[in-house]
Amino acid sequence: MFDQIADAVGTPAYVYDAGAIRTAYARLDAAFGDRPHAIHYALKANSSLALVRLLRSLGSGADANSIGEVEVALRCGCTPRDIVFTGVGKRADELARAVDLDLLAINVESPGELDRLARLAADRGAVARVALRVNPDIDARSHPHISTGLKSNKFGVPIDAAPALFREIAARPSLAAVGIHVHIGSQITALDPLERAAEAVVALATDLRAQGLPIEHLDFGGGLGIAYDGGTAPDPDEYVRRIVRAAKHTDLLLAIEPGRVLVGAAGVLLTRVVDVKQFPGAKRFVVLDAGMTELMRPALYDAFHRIEPVHPRPGAEVPVDIVGPICESTDTFARDRALPPVEVGDLVIVRDAGAYGAAMGSNYLRRLLPPEVLLDGEAWTVTRRRQTLDDMLALEV
Ligand code: LLP
Repeated sequence: MFDQIADAVGTPAYVYDAGAIRTAYARLDAAFGDRPHAIHYALKANSSLALVRLLRSLGSGADANSIGEVEVALRCGCTPRDIVFTGVGKRADELARAVDLDLLAINVESPGELDRLARLAADRGAVARVALRVNPDIDARSHPHISTGLKSNKFGVPIDAAPALFREIAARPSLAAVGIHVHIGSQITALDPLERAAEAVVALATDLRAQGLPIEHLDFGGGLGIAYDGGTAPDPDEYVRRIVRAAKHTDLLLAIEPGRVLVGAAGVLLTRVVDVKQFPGAKRFVVLDAGMTELMRPALYDAFHRIEPVHPRPGAEVPVDIVGPICESTDTFARDRALPPVEVGDLVIVRDAGAYGAAMGSNYLRRLLPPEVLLDGEAWTVTRRRQTLDDMLALEV
């Protein structure tokens, strides 16, 4: 399969498995049981049209972090009421479009944004549906670069400031309070912080109701991690059970915004060895034709991804540095990693590249964005062709 795909579209390429995405979605969905809920796929993980359409066909809504992601969700079949719009720095034109669309919720991140949104909606004779993003000051115990729930992080408003802001929302005719939103980080592998954040949000909702400030939904964000090392990851069923348990004394709609857990393990980066080099007494380097332009996670977060030859050659594994072709030392996928023997031209896969791989890709060094392929059982479809030099230069004079 990988040989055929590489022959057809070349390398590097992203290859996604539709079956794995269906299974991951069904599992989260089923874990809610009969509790009314909504799953808003976090498009930032991978907003490839084919994947968003697939998730939409399974019943997913969308969490968008820019107006571009809102438009993609709409083009993939979401209605405005399936979309929540989050983001720590929404521009006025983005807010205006969100208000005109009457999105399910605009997740507001600050008092200033709340005020700007209220005035903007009033000017348009509209009522904006607002969820307030609260920051519960909970340590997600994930990588510091992807933790968002501490008061030292730029996200949301301190949870104890929320009641006053909900009173302000109630007092402004151009705003309607619809929800509370929390998201404490990503690649979280301990369920306790997620559960404590859920409890904090539920306590706030109870307090609001007592003050006569009702809302419609609780949005617990995303963040559930996957096992990049192939070991055990937190159980998605247990994650959902804990959220449902935290909310058992409310009748509010429960929403989550998973990204990675839906698509991360469903994708690989298919790449080819372009050089192998070693000098006496020095490291052995395996150079791939994919690098940080196709998968930035190792360079940005020192992230671990399993890397395997498609057809392992016989022979002992030896420690190698597996690197990309880019002129930066951080363009390294793995250091001192045991790898079976490989030769120039061999195909290699980098696992768990379905989330935050293509989505964070770039044209650095004028490298072309790779193609994307969607497998479904035995069949596969090219869902994005490789960018051409003309595509890339089309924007320039
Ligand atoms: N909701 C909000 C408001 C978010 O900010 C995020 C991710 C999610 C949902 C989805 O989180 P997930 O379920 O995928 O963990 N580039 C990093 C991850 C950044 C995540 C940013 N926010 C990485 O490659 O690990």
